[in-house]
Amino acid sequence: MTTQPIFIPVILGTPRQGRMSEPVAKFVVEQVAKRDGVETELIDIRNIPLPTSDEGESIKDPKFSETMMRADALIIVVPEYNHGYPGLLKHLLDTNLKEYIHKAVGICGVSAGPFGGTRVIQSLLPVMRELGLVNIFWDGNFSNVHNIFDQSGKLLDEAYIRRLDKFLQELVWMAKVLRYGRENIASE
Ligand SMILES: Cc1cc2nc3c(=O)[nH]c(=O)nc-3n(C[C@H](O)[C@H](O)[C@H](O)COP(=O)(O)O)c2cc1C
Repeated sequence: MTTQPIFIPVILGTPRQGRMSEPVAKFVVEQVAKRDGVETELIDIRNIPLPTSDEGESIKDPKFSETMMRADALIIVVPEYNHGYPGLLKHLLDTNLKEYIHKAVGICGVSAGPFGGTRVIQSLLPVMRELGLVNIFWDGNFSNVHNIFDQSGKLLDEAYIRRLDKFLQELVWMAKVLRYGRENIASE
């Protein structure tokens, strides 16, 4: 297997002003960056120029596609909006396909309410599968998010470090397994 670090970018999946998903995504990036042999970067959906006059691969952003191509796994930080995902996130994800295939994905749900985005996570799982991504069996659940981070984005509940560690351990393992597979096992 190639020895270069496993690359796991984190997508911040909402452009909303005042979004609490932002401190969550920054916290996740910080925790990923602490792991040996793993690189990460934050992809803020606000910074990707996507037209709304078309859909799919014809409106690819070259930089985003290049990042997806390089990725071994993805983390999606997604807020729950009316029990679903933000439309702009789907608009972005739909712009690529071959870039995602046989790569791992982990989802962190964010909600103002008590369920930690479990409903938005459930609704994203079949989308991940159709994109060729491989879901892990751990999620990040950031419930009552206003109690987890203060206004400046400081983490108030240290228990999230341990919880996220379990999620990342599994994601990195799956990313390594899939990289091995992509490099060594023919798919047809
Ligand atoms: C359009 C919209 C719909 C929402 N629907 C839900 C919901 O169904 N369940 C929930 O727990 N919170 C809901 N919320 C609150 C968000 O979960 C809350 O804003 C949280 O901080 C995560 O989203 P944010 O990153 O935009 O802040 C909704 C917020 C918006 C803007």
